Amino acid sequence: MEKYVIDPFNRLSKINKDIYGHFSEHLGRCIYGGIYVGDDSKIPNLNGMRIDVVNALRDMGLPVLRWPGGCFADEYHWKDGIGDKSKRKRMVNTHWGGVVEDNSFGTHEFFELCRQLGCDAYVNGNVGSGSVREMNEWVEYMTFDGESPMSALRAQNGSESPWRVKYFGVGNESWGCGGNMMPEYYADLFRRYNTYVRDYDTSNKIYRVACGPNGDDYNWTDVLMRLAGNKMNGLSLHYYTVPGSSWDNKGSATDFSEDEYLTTIAKAYNIDKIIGIHSSIMNRYDPDKRVGLIVDEWGTWFDVEPGTNPGFLYQLNTMRDAVVAALSLNIFNKHSDRVHMANIAQTVNVLQSVILTDGADMLLTPTYFVFKMFRDHQNNTLLGSHITSDVRQAGEYKAPQLIESASVDENGVITATVVNTCPKREAEIDCELPHFEVSSVKASVICGEMHKMNTFDDKTSVTERDFSDFTVKKNGFTSVLPACSVVKFTIK
Ligand code: AHR
Repeated sequence: MEKYVIDPFNRLSKINKDIYGHFSEHLGRCIYGGIYVGDDSKIPNLNGMRIDVVNALRDMGLPVLRWPGGCFADEYHWKDGIGDKSKRKRMVNTHWGGVVEDNSFGTHEFFELCRQLGCDAYVNGNVGSGSVREMNEWVEYMTFDGESPMSALRAQNGSESPWRVKYFGVGNESWGCGGNMMPEYYADLFRRYNTYVRDYDTSNKIYRVACGPNGDDYNWTDVLMRLAGNKMNGLSLHYYTVPGSSWDNKGSATDFSEDEYLTTIAKAYNIDKIIGIHSSIMNRYDPDKRVGLIVDEWGTWFDVEPGTNPGFLYQLNTMRDAVVAALSLNIFNKHSDRVHMANIAQTVNVLQSVILTDGADMLLTPTYFVFKMFRDHQNNTLLGSHITSDVRQAGEYKAPQLIESASVDENGVITATVVNTCPKREAEIDCELPHFEVSSVKASVICGEMHKMNTFDDKTSVTERDFSDFTVKKNGFTSVLPACSVVKFTIK
């Protein structure tokens, strides 16, 4: 029996709802076909956005959306994507499949999508191949309410009022696809470009995100914090879980052994250590934790689904992905003093998606149900909590069998989410909330054999179901968590 202690009186950091954010790039069928079909499509849409997808994302509770990339962002020239659609420039999407990008989804369409989703906007600017002026004018175009060339252009294109840009990324992966820069050089460029990301409206103070490290590149964080830490609001971190031995052999999304499953879990869990080390470097320069660590790309990355365009990064999603999503979200909650936002890659049809589409058809993946289940943590206060657990070694990585986080809302309702990462063994837990009289517990579960998934023929194989395998005690409860499961307890 594992001991789980939640201290309802040890209130820690606020869990920013944007930790539950998403990322949608002009990549494969994420935007085109997955979200945007155009208003003359036979697929039911509102102003070009798929009604089924928008409704599902709203139900899931999507708080913030990052766009237009990714690598695409550093080749994107925003003026190509405004005005009369028939005259918009057609370009080659060199990073992703070499397909024609017709720019029919641009700035106005992105904000229309955010409006329909009821979410905040995270726009990523172009440092790699764009000019300072281009970035400056884009921010003016999006946010300025007075008289200016860019606000006039916006009005001419149908939007009299400005939009709210909550987050703005100054470049993406500047150490890689965004320009292959050295950290010292990028730090200077960040200082320069960022100067012209103006706050035109005092009610829209833009949260500026500098390009941060790739995984465990601690030197990048150190240099950026030292040379530009006082100019940024956030520093990004990209961390993908790739179970295979190399980028050429990432492993199959659906056909994997128990060893590969355990390696995936252990590699995903490694983000806990990576965030911890980046945070301690940031603490040296920013002890008050003003600057957020923004995990704006994370998730599983497998070999593409056989027979699909390798540049489209289309992969299927199983219970293994649900476990990775849940353990990662628990880790982000635990680090919410430093992690202000995270954006899983990518919303629809790309990498660890929450939705897959096939023409007019759509399915919700196991990862979708995790996000929906965890939405109760959004904007809650993290509680001190700990669970005992076996630890499994997988090569050079290791992960505990049980990974949890707990939070409380403004009415005192406690949400605890526990992942049993073991594909074979149940876990008995004895949960105690010292000095707290439990009046009720409700629970739900997402579980199944590690390969279990939803398909277009069987869309409800993996879903969130009520869970009753627990017994309430005076100061807590006991429970038996199924193998390969994610369980949420709502405690009053
Ligand atoms: O999410 C896919 C790609 O991964 C993004 O475009 C890039 O930023 C990262 O390398």
